[in-house]
Amino acid sequence: MTIEQGGQQVPGIAVIGCGRISRSHLAAVATQPELATLVAAVDSDMSLATQAKQRYGAQHALDDVDAALARSDVEAVILCLPNHLHASVAIKAARAGKHVLVEKPMADTADQAHAMADAAREAGVVLAVAQCRRHFRAIRYLADHASDFGKLISAQVSLGVYWPDAQAPWWRDADKASGLVVALNGPHVLDFVQMVMQDDPLRVHAEAVRRNAFWAGEDEAMMLLAYPQGRIASVHLSFNQQPVENRKVLVYERGTAVVDNDTHLTFNGETLVAQGDDERRHYLDEAVEFQRQFREFALAIAGKPNRSVSAAEGIRLMRTLDAVHRAFRSGQSVETGDATQSMEPLDAVP
Ligand SMILES: NC(=O)c1ccc[n+]([C@@H]2O[C@H](COP(=O)([O-])OP(=O)(O)OC[C@H]3O[C@@H](n4cnc5c(N)ncnc54)[C@H](O)[C@@H]3O)[C@@H](O)[C@H]2O)c1
Repeated sequence: MTIEQGGQQVPGIAVIGCGRISRSHLAAVATQPELATLVAAVDSDMSLATQAKQRYGAQHALDDVDAALARSDVEAVILCLPNHLHASVAIKAARAGKHVLVEKPMADTADQAHAMADAAREAGVVLAVAQCRRHFRAIRYLADHASDFGKLISAQVSLGVYWPDAQAPWWRDADKASGLVVALNGPHVLDFVQMVMQDDPLRVHAEAVRRNAFWAGEDEAMMLLAYPQGRIASVHLSFNQQPVENRKVLVYERGTAVVDNDTHLTFNGETLVAQGDDERRHYLDEAVEFQRQFREFALAIAGKPNRSVSAAEGIRLMRTLDAVHRAFRSGQSVETGDATQSMEPLDAVP
């Protein structure tokens, strides 16, 4: 049900899961009253739900997901739950008629992602994936202007952070975190690669190791991906890297684009997009890209053109993540399509 606010009908939102990432989502809703009303902050830990309600002016604090989904004034939910709950709660929410914005990773597996998309389609609701890094200016610029640079030849992407301990208790449980670094940070980098390649990989090679024994899953991973038309990508993910590194190098026919920290874009050394003053907030601290992301979700709910990451794109990313997991767990390369195409030299491609 929409809610009247300032003479306008806006959707009522419940943010489900009031842990680390929720603050950026809660702030995104609370600071944009022209787009939505924050109806409920929901967490099985009532003290977190209550804190979120007070800080962001939600109308209700709830400790039960079903109670939130039963409310007619909740039209959409933002799922900020541990990874292993994304699929089941998204499906339940869609069946209750709620639009869903689900944090990355969309699910644990591509099969789960398909089931989520089926539930959303059957219910006629929006299902979008919160790939927040798509909403930085530099990343949007690349998405919109890639054809200016000529054909893409290769992508090298690194996301190395330093987490000497779990930032949430479920990170130490491989079933709840769907592994570790590949499920937690893989969606950020592989979604970027998917965006620039505008294609799915034909073949995936991957190695992943657990360097720190206290993790249950992998904390260091490297992968190589082959794409149609002879294009290739390398991806490095680390939980052990200091100082941290977040860099994307894209080799195009006309030169090289480099994106640092998702916010600063150069092409052949010339700055095309500099980090905005509003883009300096940490992603856990009410970051601006989450405001932009929420605006796109609100547009999607209203049936208007939008830049939300769709369920279809989310499924494609989950297929790639499944292939990466299969590759490093089996020690074998995974063929995901017609690999013969990837061997064609670039100049032989029409
Ligand atoms: N976009 C990003 O940059 C980014 C950054 C961090 C986390 N995330 C994603 O956000 C999700 C949440 O991560 P987090 O770091 O905020 O985790 P967190 O553990 O800090 O928060 C999860 C919250 O969910 C609550 N919860 C657990 N089970 C529940 C249930 N059945 N019903 C209601 N509440 C329940 C917990 O009490 C906790 O407060 C994860 O999927 C993670 O991958 C995304």
